[in-house]
Amino acid sequence: MSDTFSKQEQEVIYRLIRARRDIRHFASDPVPEDALQRILEAAHYAPSVGFMQPWNFILITSQEIKQKIKASFEETNREQLQVLSEDERKELYRKLKLEGIMEAPINIAVTCDRNRDAPFVLGRSPMPETDLYSTCLAIQNMWLAARAEGIGIGWVSLINQQEVKQILRLPAGVELVAYLCIGYPTQFPKKPMLEELGWKSRLPLKTLVYENQWGQLKTF
Ligand SMILES: Cc1cc2nc3c(=O)[nH]c(=O)nc-3n(C[C@H](O)[C@H](O)[C@H](O)COP(=O)(O)O)c2cc1C
Repeated sequence: MSDTFSKQEQEVIYRLIRARRDIRHFASDPVPEDALQRILEAAHYAPSVGFMQPWNFILITSQEIKQKIKASFEETNREQLQVLSEDERKELYRKLKLEGIMEAPINIAVTCDRNRDAPFVLGRSPMPETDLYSTCLAIQNMWLAARAEGIGIGWVSLINQQEVKQILRLPAGVELVAYLCIGYPTQFPKKPMLEELGWKSRLPLKTLVYENQWGQLKTF
């Protein structure tokens, strides 16, 4: 393996990053075992605080379990709709499809075992949440690897965390970080669905980059 990347390889990486999408519409085709294995290996190569590797991946194929998670989504989604006060926003929210739990051939719960390597995890004590951040990095690796394979992932956070932890029988000290729906998408949209439907647009990067101190915009 060469330790540099050619211009062409760099372009592929940036194209992949831009082409990744959160997917909620899935075809019924199964995800091949070997592709799934590669996606999980990509996750496992993520950086982690103190090389803790705090993640586990629960592959969910049982219709019964998916059904229970879907019920949790429906309740949470209803609650979230009530939180919105503006009628226009409420109307738009109602139109959004925010999960693909039943359609996706596999769901994966990604967890963080906060007790792994306890009591001393190199580098974690000053920032205790770094094990959760590490798990998110594994998820991003999965998301990108899946996109390279033509497979879509949708992250569903509109669920009751405690309820889902019980459904999946997570032991004490193991946190649910992400509930993911995985499968072949009906399409990879060019833009985020929330942008396409007018919920929110991408912020201009130049308004987000500061120099030395908060609020001091960096001029490019
Ligand atoms: C932590 C996290 C939680 C998310 N939860 C949901 C969700 O519950 N339902 C949903 O439809 N999308 C969810 N998303 C997807 C975001 O809406 C999506 O990433 C964002 O709109 C940008 O679109 P893109 O991922 O296609 O670029 C979540 C994404 C992240 C990172």
